[in-house]
Order: sequence, then structure tokens, then C-alpha cells
Amino acid sequence: MKGIVLAAGAGTRLYPITRSVNKQLLPIYDKPMIYYPISTLMEIGIQDILLITSEREQDNFKHLLGDGSQFGIKMNYAIQYVPKGISDAFIIAEEFIGDDESVLILGDNIFYGESLRKNLVNAKENLRNGYSTVFGYKVDDPERFGVIEFNDKQEVVSLEEKPTEPKSNYAATGLYFYTPGATNNAKTLKPSARGEIEITDLNKIYLNEGNLKCELMGTDINWIDTGTYDSMLEASIKIKAYEEGTSKKVAQLEEIALRKGYLSNDNLKEIADNMIKSGYQKQLTKLL
Ligand code: DAU
Repeated sequence: MKGIVLAAGAGTRLYPITRSVNKQLLPIYDKPMIYYPISTLMEIGIQDILLITSEREQDNFKHLLGDGSQFGIKMNYAIQYVPKGISDAFIIAEEFIGDDESVLILGDNIFYGESLRKNLVNAKENLRNGYSTVFGYKVDDPERFGVIEFNDKQEVVSLEEKPTEPKSNYAATGLYFYTPGATNNAKTLKPSARGEIEITDLNKIYLNEGNLKCELMGTDINWIDTGTYDSMLEASIKIKAYEEGTSKKVAQLEEIALRKGYLSNDNLKEIADNMIKSGYQKQLTKLL
């Protein structure tokens, strides 16, 4: 299974803070934003990840994440030259995905909480049964998102991108699991009125074929789409409070790698020893 993180947006909504730094390199509490979506892919068990960025930012991401070996994963890089839409990720990633299953996460989407692992396991099970998966999350402002409508059996009956009159309060989050063939489906999409090949249109292909499931995320899960100044601040505050309240770290990639067996204690000791004396180094040493 291949993982893709899409982090190529221009970030103009966050000017001036994103004028010289990509949004996904900005901090959310004590880590760069990009750590959070990568942590979700690692929780799924994905070790082969393609990070799609703009041309200008690629080197900055490489400085931060390198080849991924410090997290026991393999980082690959690709450029999206023009922001043509979220589904374009599958066209850019054609060679990387090959005949494999793929999971896409948006670079500004943060997920954490106890029952998240259960949702991820269920989505993997869906893939084994030939179904792709979107994740539904109850929100107060569904018109800002892709919206999922269900029937009384909790099956998806419609998907709409930012509808003015939403048919439910369930947003489709920025996490998507696909059976092999996502690239070919993405290639058939036509740009929407806003000139993008929409992820909602890609999902509609699976819905119309009867091959789409939705995993509903529970109220214990926090999903934050960090698209605004306020949501970035809210994410930092919530994550700090969660970590202090539970004594668990969110998106600590080294901890996930150790737990999943991607890194050994010796690997981690070497990584911690090589870090200049930061608070983060102390956290890593604690893991040992
Ligand atoms: O966050 C979940 C929502 O994400 C979904 O509910 C919507 O269905 C989906 O369309 C998307 O909506 P947004 O309005 O949040 O998408 P946005 O254009 O802000 O792009 C999300 C991220 O993807 C952002 O960090 C920039 C990146 N991106 C986006 C596009 C269109 C790219 O890297 N390249 C692109 O071409």
C-alpha cells in the first residue's frame, strides 16, 4: 500500500505568514504541520510515502524529512507545478502507485484520538474486500467541505463539494483509501467550475460503481483542517491540552516508528544522540 501526502497549495489564504514558508512547514504546537499527516500514514502501516509539494518548496521539505530513514520510512518526492486539484495527486503519483492500493492525505489535515486506529483498520479491511473508503466527520459548517449524505443503513447515497444547501452535517475529511486504479479514474475527470479536478468527483466514480464505503469518525477523534489562522491556533492549543491530559504524544514519528517496529531502540538512541539539545531530544530519550 502506497501513501501520498498532498502539500502543494500556494497557501495564499494565510498570507503574509506563508509568503516565504509553506503552510505545511509551519508549527502546530511543537512539530511542523507535515508531521501530522505523515503520522496518520505511519499508523496505517504505510512506510512508502510520496510527498507532493510545489517546486519552490521541495528542498525545504527534503531538509526536514530527508529520505525518511530517521522515522524508519521511505520518503519520495514529486512536484505539482500547477494546483490543478486534489485528484491530480493520483496522476502525479502514477508511477509511484503502480498497481498498488493508495491512501491520500491532505498535508493540512490533522487526525488524532483513541478510536482513529479502529477506523483505519476498518478502511484497510474495506480495501481487502474491494471497497475504497472516505471518512465522515460531523461538523457545524458542512458547506465548507465535501458533504456525505447517507441512507438509513448508513450507506453513502450522495457526495457534494461545498454545497450551498448541505444534505447532512457530515464532511468528508482529507483522508482517502483507494483500491488499485485510482490514477486511471483520476485521468477521466473534467475540471470543475473552479478549474480543479475535484476529489469529490473521483469519489463519485467509486460511489456510482457501488465500491465506496464511509467510515464515520467518533466524537473522541479530533479532525482539524488547518486552513485558517484560527484553526492553526486551535490545533496547537488542543494538541497541547490532549498531550498533557493523556500523557500521550500526537504525531511523534519516532515513537510510532518504534512501536511499529520500523526503528529499533539502537536506531532511536543514535537519532536522539545526533539531535542538538532540544526539548524534542529529551522526549525521544524518554521513549528509550
Ligand atoms: O479538508 C477536507 C476537504 O478538503 C474536503 O472536505 C473537500 O472535499 C476537499 O475538496 C478539500 O477541500 P479544501 O477546500 O480544504 O481544499 P483546498 O483547496 O484547501 O486544498 C486542501 C489542501 O490540498 C491544501 O493544503 C492545498 C492542497 N492542494 C490543493 C489543491 C487544489 C494541493 O496541494 N494542490 C491542489 O491542486
